[in-house]
Amino acid sequence: MFKFALLLFLVATLARSSTAATVVSCLEDHGLEVEDSQSPNWMDATTPFNTRFRYIPAAIVYPKKTSDVSEAVLCAVKYGLHVSALSGGHSYSASGYGSRNGTLVVNLRNMGRISPHSSSDNNFVIQSGIRLGDMASELYSEYNRSMAHGTCPWVGLGGHAGFGGWGLASRNWGLVIDQVIAAELVQADGTVVNVSATERPELYWAIRGASASYGIVTQYTMKTQEAPVNVTRFAYNFAFNFTADDRAPERFAEILSAYQNWSFTAPKEIGIVANVWQLGQDLELGGIYMGSRTDFDPIAASLLNATGEPSQRYVQERSWIEALEEVNGVTKLSTEGIPEPRDTFHAKSLVVSMENPLAPDSFSKLAKNFTTSIPSNFSWFIQFELWGGHNSHISSIPADATAYPHRNHHWTVQFYGRTNGSWFPQYTEFVDGLADTLAQGKELGAYANYLDPYLQGWKKKYYDRNYARLEEIRKKTDPSGVFLKSQNIGAAD
Ligand SMILES: Cc1cc2nc3c(=O)[nH]c(=O)nc-3n(C[C@H](O)[C@H](O)[C@H](O)COP(=O)(O)OP(=O)(O)OC[C@H]3O[C@@H](n4cnc5c(N)ncnc54)[C@H](O)[C@@H]3O)c2cc1C
Ligand SMILES: *[C@@H]1O[C@H](CO)[C@@H](O)[C@H](O)[C@H]1NC(C)=O
Ligand SMILES: *[C@@H]1O[C@H](CO)[C@@H](O)[C@H](O)[C@H]1NC(C)=O
Ligand SMILES: *[C@@H]1O[C@H](CO)[C@@H](O)[C@H](O)[C@H]1NC(C)=O
Ligand SMILES: *[C@@H]1O[C@H](CO)[C@@H](O)[C@H](O)[C@H]1NC(C)=O
Ligand SMILES: *[C@@H]1O[C@H](CO)[C@@H](O)[C@H](O)[C@H]1NC(C)=O
Ligand SMILES: *[C@@H]1O[C@H](CO)[C@@H](O)[C@H](O)[C@H]1NC(C)=O
Ligand SMILES: *[C@@H]1O[C@H](CO)[C@@H](O)[C@H](O)[C@H]1NC(C)=O
Ligand SMILES: *[C@@H]1O[C@H](CO)[C@@H](O)[C@H](O)[C@H]1NC(C)=O
Ligand SMILES: *[C@@H]1O[C@H](CO)[C@@H](O)[C@H](O)[C@H]1NC(C)=O
Ligand SMILES: *[C@@H]1O[C@H](CO)[C@@H](O)[C@H](O)[C@H]1NC(C)=O
Repeated sequence: MFKFALLLFLVATLARSSTAATVVSCLEDHGLEVEDSQSPNWMDATTPFNTRFRYIPAAIVYPKKTSDVSEAVLCAVKYGLHVSALSGGHSYSASGYGSRNGTLVVNLRNMGRISPHSSSDNNFVIQSGIRLGDMASELYSEYNRSMAHGTCPWVGLGGHAGFGGWGLASRNWGLVIDQVIAAELVQADGTVVNVSATERPELYWAIRGASASYGIVTQYTMKTQEAPVNVTRFAYNFAFNFTADDRAPERFAEILSAYQNWSFTAPKEIGIVANVWQLGQDLELGGIYMGSRTDFDPIAASLLNATGEPSQRYVQERSWIEALEEVNGVTKLSTEGIPEPRDTFHAKSLVVSMENPLAPDSFSKLAKNFTTSIPSNFSWFIQFELWGGHNSHISSIPADATAYPHRNHHWTVQFYGRTNGSWFPQYTEFVDGLADTLAQGKELGAYANYLDPYLQGWKKKYYDRNYARLEEIRKKTDPSGVFLKSQNIGAAD
């Protein structure tokens, strides 16, 4: 019996690479929970949200506290491994797994606690391994508080807050990074530092848009808002028949162009997106207005006066939490006990600025593009997200105030194509073709949270003029590239 166990142990050890085995011993010597290729759960533990990407880590470590994270970084450095934080694992390209094989992945799933910062403010200390759905649900039910953040309950705060973090309340309250007052960070040499406007302001600047290049954020101190009692949920649908109606592309363009023009002066209390789905028979303008239906009615009237009559209207007052559930299509936001969702997809984003809006005919060209030669067994959507406009909190912040640069922002347009498993190059080409058609040769920015691993010229597109300063800071804080990976600061363009 004992001999058999010993034999199994030897076989298991030999099957690992020697670096993986030594880093695992180092982590285990510190009493940390670790998984590697010998773990029965390894397949699941290494499957990211986007199943098109799979990187095999040297090991995955599950810290419970900040000092565990620090020890994990030091073990990786000792054996010459790169380190990558994994929070919700919802990166579009599995970047949390390190974007290459052989990384030490620091999975923050055991670090998701929320606690009030102090009795004299309404700030909260939130560990970065929490999922957005759990965060929203706990802030609301325990404290009657709320924040602006993205919609998918499964997205992790760590990645979301790392590169911006937009949601339907963001025009009112800002991006997630705009609500970050301070953060605790484990650096490449294992040291733990706090960053804020007064402590290490350069790092505080850098983590608000490019955190993954500077270390592992273990917790954020966040500004919160009293949860509104009611908000107004709305959705207006416009129907088309592109196969039967030659004028449909022009009508489609007119509505989007009217929405774009209206967006410039939209009040900050409105969170709105236009969604177009498969075949484009349906265009929906929907979102949340952070106020009563009575206050919303004249705003809706001005929008619909510009777009023309929708074929369907939906307007309903909802409690804050009901509204969040509704926009996510879920009955509860907490992720507890629900199996991790996965998808197989390619996505792209275009950032449209206020001074360079899209020409009306780019929308009709888009409609002509997506109604021809759609690949089979493939579905897609395009989302025209209103981030800016003159009244938006997002655009009230100077472009160099945080690492995230797109402050003269109007829309973020997201293109997303998916399948049920297999992937062919024509799917990627279709999605890229939609984005190219809408851009009409304009050099537009991109959003680093809608990560596109094939993006050419990402330094300028994600970070614009802030890139050079980000690179200067990174050279000082991570000179040997412990956190370096594809599309992190310092990587090849
Ligand atoms: C279904 C879905 C809906 C989405 N909706 C929105 C939306 O409404 N608004 C929006 O803005 N975005 C949205 N996103 C994009 C989302 O914000 C990003 O994919 C985000 O980076 C995912 O964070 P994560 O922690 O889940 O990802 P992970 O894969 O765990 O991490 C992503 C990146 O962040 C790094 N990272 C993670 N944690 C830390 C940390 N603690 N410290 C330093 N670096 C860290 C990782 O190393 C990796 O580089 C959505 C994504 C999905 C899949
Ligand atoms: C990563 O490892 C897997 C499994 O060994 C292998 O199939 C894949 O090609 C590797 N990827 C890279 C980029 O080396
Ligand atoms: C960082 O700040 C937190 C919260 O204020 C505190 O608990 C922690 O000890 C600080 N860490 C360092 C390294 O100063
Ligand atoms: C929650 O906050 C709202 C203000 O937006 C307030 O009117 C309401 O009474 C609060 N609810 C509780 C339970 O404290
Ligand atoms: C579009 O019109 C064609 C021809 O009239 C019809 O066959 C088709 O069902 C219509 N499609 C939709 C989505 O209504
Ligand atoms: C939106 O504004 C642009 C520029 O002023 C104009 O060309 C376009 O016709 C407007 N669109 C609509 C639908 O009114
Ligand atoms: C509706 O639009 C017309 C111009 O198209 C404008 O004159 C009118 O004031 C608008 N009405 C409202 C309620 O915005
Ligand atoms: C909130 O909305 C519900 C549903 O419309 C309504 O019954 C309730 O009176 C509203 N509460 C407040 C405080 O406006
Ligand atoms: C995926 O499978 C479901 C169920 O079989 C089907 O309804 C759906 O259309 C498929 N989606 C794609 C993109 O092929
Ligand atoms: C689409 O999916 C169906 C069902 O899985 C399959 O039979 C068919 O061959 C697929 N078609 C293509 C073009 O991949
Ligand atoms: C869509 O646009 C792309 C980029 O301009 C182009 O390569 C592709 O051929 C177009 N597809 C169709 C069906 O028009």
